[in-house]
Amino acid sequence: MKTANWSPASWRDHEGLQMPSYRDAASLAATEAQLGNFPPLVFAGEARSLKADLARVVSGDSFLLQGGDCAESFAEFHPNNIRDTFRVLLQMAVVLTFASKLPIVKVGRMAGQFAKPRSAHTETIDGVELPSYRGDNVNDIAFTAEGREPDPERMIRAYNQSAATLNLLRAFSTGGYASLDRVHGWMLDFMGRSPWARKFREMADQIGTALDFMRACGLSPDTVPQLGATSFYTSHEALLLAYEQALTRQDSLTGDWYDTSAHMLWIGDRTRFEGSAHVEYLRGVGNPIGMKCGPSLDPDALLRLLDILNPAREPGRMTLITRYGHDKIEAGLPPLVRAVMREGHPVVWSCDPMHGNVIKTNNGYKTRPFDRILAEVRGFFAVHRAEGSFGGGIHVEMTGQNVTECTGGAMDVTQMDLEDRYHTHCDPRLNAGQSIELAFLLAEMLNDELAERRKVAA
Ligand code: TRP
Ligand code: MN
Repeated sequence: MKTANWSPASWRDHEGLQMPSYRDAASLAATEAQLGNFPPLVFAGEARSLKADLARVVSGDSFLLQGGDCAESFAEFHPNNIRDTFRVLLQMAVVLTFASKLPIVKVGRMAGQFAKPRSAHTETIDGVELPSYRGDNVNDIAFTAEGREPDPERMIRAYNQSAATLNLLRAFSTGGYASLDRVHGWMLDFMGRSPWARKFREMADQIGTALDFMRACGLSPDTVPQLGATSFYTSHEALLLAYEQALTRQDSLTGDWYDTSAHMLWIGDRTRFEGSAHVEYLRGVGNPIGMKCGPSLDPDALLRLLDILNPAREPGRMTLITRYGHDKIEAGLPPLVRAVMREGHPVVWSCDPMHGNVIKTNNGYKTRPFDRILAEVRGFFAVHRAEGSFGGGIHVEMTGQNVTECTGGAMDVTQMDLEDRYHTHCDPRLNAGQSIELAFLLAEMLNDELAERRKVAA
């Protein structure tokens, strides 16, 4: 891939929104130089494998599951948190694999999700105005003047935390922890606790039966590596371009440039306009790219962006992550789908049912009602069925912890419960139970969906 007039730094001549200005230019430059000498976090060949996996989603032969924290933080850096989020993602993946009979591409919003776009530059509390919190890669969530000052040193800390997180994820993925038997065991344990267990019991039992049958036939994690390990990829929003540029490396095998901070990078809804620094940066790296698509994106602009970001129309390169809101998706999404299909751009369509469904409660919490999240997913599949396209993925903000940030679900978190365990550094996340419940409900929808498609194909 040769990209004309591009260099890892060419974004600097474009309009860059949502990035901090650092007071100390010398310290910023020193940090960038230091990061530039650090080892890459991922290898280009892995990014290419993910692209190939995503190409199978484009053709309808696989499904994408992407999830993790809205924002990772330095304060919540703990092996148990990494383990628990990874574990819930695997549980979701097993349910989805079984229901769809398709391989699931697993991508964490993990090991690098440290920079956040904000709706306002500043935040005012009790008459004091300070810069907004932009993620731990930039400044501190604490509302003090020093805390909110952007500090380049934080990029080093984010890099180190990402490296350690990724190391643990790699160990979990292939070291025995992700074995199917084990994941099924966790599911049974979850069943013991969920009020909706009756609803999900049948599928859990069927998975158990399938594993027993395979074992009797001599197929077990001990004899078949595919049952004992999984592949797990990382992703984050490519927002803080100084950081991304410092981790951009030329692949020794192909000569192409890759952003080695994660396997997949996405562009947010606020930075994905034509001519933006973020579009400029991402067009030149070979990684799979996600793009958030919300109500403000018109179909022609989308097509121009796809031409810029994927001129070769490589399948697996682009994932469009739609985030409309439960009441807007059925009207908003069809024009995009039609335009993309008409032009023949190969894309993964993924549903982010989180960002369009935020409400503020009377007691002052930002939350997302589980029912609305589900309604957006349902609307997403309805649109793709009507348009004849493949709704191929889901993108969720979730955690393995038992937080109370989204309302609803089987345990029925109420607005009053939100204050109990509201820990997010940014947006409200599904907790462990809500995430697994969502996977079961999604599995039912996906199952119906695919049965429908197979009928049409027959
Ligand atoms: N290797 C297969 C896969 O990753 C099966 C598998 C093993 C699996 N462990 C898993 C699937 C955990 C989901 C979750 O799809
Ligand atoms: Mn978010």
